Amino acid sequence: MANVTFSSPIMPKDVTVYAVAGDKGTLLALARKNDIPIPCQCQDGQCGSCLVKVTPLDGSSLKGQALTEHEKVTLSVNGKLSKELLAKAEVEDIPPPYRLACQYWVQDSNILVEFSGEPGVE
Ligand code: FES
Repeated sequence: MANVTFSSPIMPKDVTVYAVAGDKGTLLALARKNDIPIPCQCQDGQCGSCLVKVTPLDGSSLKGQALTEHEKVTLSVNGKLSKELLAKAEVEDIPPPYRLACQYWVQDSNILVEFSGEPGVE
């Protein structure tokens, strides 16, 4: 199970959600279920509006959090995924800091999820 803390200047305070087995969908689905206002439009990894920054907490590892093909393209086009970060993700299984909430699957890691509230802006 995982603690997912959402933080944004558009929220009065940070919100920590304890994600249980039934919550193991996307980060965007978990946010919506808990009324966290992460912007979203396509929900398919193509618009980039659900851009978030994911930071592991408490020594958690984010290994195994593979990027989807849509995520690779959209993050690259928006300048959030350099060739170096992509290579680290694909070769060393070190995920990049910026992700798309609709493409990121909640796992057993404790994470901080930061977003601006502006579509596509971290
Ligand atoms: Fe469009 Fe996530 S909602 S990329």
